[in-house]
Order: sequence, then C-alpha cells, then structure tokens
Amino acid sequence: MRTQVGIVGAGPAGLLLSQLLHLRGIETVILERRSREYVEGRIRAGVLEQGTVDLLNKAQVGERMRRVGLVHEGIELSFGGRRHRIDFRALTGKAVTVYGQTELTKDLIGARLAAGGKIVFEAEDVSVHDFDRDRPKLRFRKGGRAHVLSCDFIGGCDGFHGVCRASVPRDALTTYERTYPFAWLGILAETPPVSDELIYCQHERGFALFSMRSPSLSRLYIQCAPDENLDEWPDARIWDELRARLGGDAAEALQSGPSLEKSIAPMRSFVAEPMRFGRLFLAGDAAHIVPPTGAKGLNLAAADVRVLARALTEFYASGRTGLIEAYSDACLRRVWKAQRFSWWMTSMLHRFPERQPFDDRLQLAELDYVTGSIAASTALAENYVGLPLD
Ligand code: FAD
Ligand code: DHB
Repeated sequence: MRTQVGIVGAGPAGLLLSQLLHLRGIETVILERRSREYVEGRIRAGVLEQGTVDLLNKAQVGERMRRVGLVHEGIELSFGGRRHRIDFRALTGKAVTVYGQTELTKDLIGARLAAGGKIVFEAEDVSVHDFDRDRPKLRFRKGGRAHVLSCDFIGGCDGFHGVCRASVPRDALTTYERTYPFAWLGILAETPPVSDELIYCQHERGFALFSMRSPSLSRLYIQCAPDENLDEWPDARIWDELRARLGGDAAEALQSGPSLEKSIAPMRSFVAEPMRFGRLFLAGDAAHIVPPTGAKGLNLAAADVRVLARALTEFYASGRTGLIEAYSDACLRRVWKAQRFSWWMTSMLHRFPERQPFDDRLQLAELDYVTGSIAASTALAENYVGLPLD
C-alpha cells in the first residue's frame, strides 16, 4: 500500500489534516486504533475559536456547524457572589462558536468518506518507521493481517498517548510539563443551559463551569481531586455541588436532568519540542496538552494542521521545503501562548489545595482587575476568541 501522507489518528487533527490535503489534491490514508462508533461518540471539547470556524468553513465541513453551532459573544466570570460579563464582541470584534468536538468529528469523517477518503478504523499495532529517511513507513495489523503503508510523510495526530511521539529518539526531544493538583468531573445532561453564555465560577468549594451543547443539552464541569472515584459521585451530589458553586438566583433556576455521560479529565500542561523529526510531523495533542480552562486543546490542533497542510501543499506544488522546515517553530509560538493563557485561566479560577490566605486574596484581586479593567478584560477576550493566525 502506498500514499502521499500517512496519518496516525482520526481525532480532529488527523481528520482535518486529511480533509485540507484532499482539497489540495494530496492523497492520505488515516490509521485509527479505535472503531468509528467509538471515535464519533467520544465527548470532549466544545468551544471553537473564530479562526477554527473559518478554517472548517474553508475546509468545506462547516455546513452543520453554521446551522446548529451556537455563536457566543461573551462569557461570564462568577466570583465573590456576583457574575461579570466579558463582552468579546465589544472588546475584540470577534465571537466563539459552541459546537461539540463529537459533532465536528462526525462531520469530518462523513466528508472524508463521501469523497472516497481512506480511514482504516480498528488498525492494530500501528508503528512508525524510517521517518529520518526519504521513504517512511507505517506498519499495522487489521483483521489479523499485517500491512505496510509507504508514504512520503507521516502526520503524527495520535493524541497524547499515541505511538508517534513515543517513536522519536529520546535525546531528540525536549519535553516541558506541569501537572495540577486537581481534575475536572464533567457531565453531559439533558437539561437546558442555566444561562445563554458559559459561566466560569471561582468558588471556595472549587471551580465550576456551566457550558452547553444545544438549547436542551448542558455540559457541566466541577473541579475534583485528581484521584476522585466516579462511583462516589451520583448525579444528585453533582447537582448539589454545581448549585453551591454557582450560587444566587441562577442556582435556584438550575434544573437537574438525567446525565448521559460522566467522566473525569486530568489537568496537565505539556509541550514536546520540536514538533518535526525528518518526515514525521507531530500535531495536536500528540505534541502538546493544555488544561481545558481556556478551551484551547481542539483549537490548537486545528491551528497545527493548518500550518502543516500549507507546508505540504507548498512542497508538492514546488518541491520547496521552507515551510516544512519552519513548521515546528511556527506552531510552537502559538502553542506557548495558548499554554500561558490556559495556565493563567486555570490558576485564576481553581482552588489550589496548598494555597495560603494571601494567595486567595491575590486570586480575587486578579478577578476583580480582569473584570474591572478594559485593558485586562481585552487581554482575556483576545486570547479566548483566539490570537490571530498568520
Ligand atoms: P485526539 O482527539 O486525542 O485524537 C487522537 C486519535 O488518535 C484518537 O482517535 C486515538 O484513538 C488515535 N490513536 C491514539 N493512539 C493511536 C495508535 N497507536 N494508533 C492509531 N490511532 C491512535 N479540550 C478542550 O478544549 N475542552 C475540553 O473540555 C476538553 N476535554 C477533554 C477531555 C478528555 C478526556 C480529553 C482526553 C481531552 C479533552 N480536551 C478538551 C482536549 C481536546 O479534546 C483535544 O485537544 C483534541 O481532541 C485534540 O485532538 P487530536 O486530534 O490532536 O487528538
Ligand atoms: C467546554 C470545555 C472547556 O474546556 C471550556 O473551557 C469551555 C467549554 C465544553 O466542553 O463545553
């Protein structure tokens, strides 16, 4: 088997890369460890930056997103018993779109398969070879048979626990990491959102986030311990905790509803540098992880593959390798700014177990400053809606 670009992973990064390359006449094959049902059912991120929305439209997969995605022109920050709105439209002229990663994944898979694109689901034992030479290879097993896929380049889009980053020689990689002393417990619930916009709550019981997927579906998160046991969190306890952290009239208005999904996500900041080794490119979570507070994970994955698709397009059109060589640096500039923003939002909104009373006062002063100063709220807004793409 042969293709131009072999892609490992059918998450947002791998699927969008495949779609962008297809539109430039470049052939790809995606190898995905899980089944199509599993990939399409995985509930994760929900907020798309305006640049991501524009990219999806350009990639011709924006039709459903334009129809059912919810355009949000601001968020609310709740602390000290009050809610404060950050008005993205007024501060930046931009907005974000709330559209589940699950839906985006379905749209991308649908578009690739409709155009005859090749995605091998349930590909087992994928391994990457010879990416330091001209003819890299992907080996895998499917239905008990061994296969070899030769390609010109490999897109390592296989997430944080994937095989691509792990295949790079250790001394060729520098990694930067921070883990946080808490996690998020998230539920998807059949109940109308408590507000038209997302509410990020700083509270002495811990952080809470009120998000949504549609006018009848809420996505809710509470800060919990990293080793929290889900069995100890029946729905009623989660709703009580959400109400306590939200407070005020909104807490009374919050309607409990059956939870369709419940999971715990760890919180970590991680970057691997560089993001290219010869003909292997890392993109998305394979190269970096952000804590979810800034809603940046999925958006960074999209920004990486935009840069990568351009670089490969230039190579196939002209043989020039300038953009390929610039790939890692171009991505990492954006990645580190998203890391900074995600770390800052996380620090400003969560309760840290080892904190001192002095830290609590600083946290509240920071929130007071951010919501009271045009300069500071603009800094939050311009990062949240997404820094400009070059
Ligand atoms: P992924 O979506 O992880 O896709 C990688 C794909 O590669 C997967 O389909 C995987 O099955 C496949 N794969 C892995 N290993 C192999 C292998 N060896 N062979 C073949 N295929 C392989 N971000 C937010 O902004 N907000 C959130 O609320 C949020 N919640 C999250 C919750 C969880 C539990 C996780 C894990 C992430 C969350 N994120 C969130 C982050 C966001 O979802 C990711 O940044 C985004 O999915 C990155 O896309 P990706 O394509 O790079 O990686
Ligand atoms: C969602 C997730 C986030 O991490 C975030 O910051 C905002 C919204 C969500 O899943 O809706």
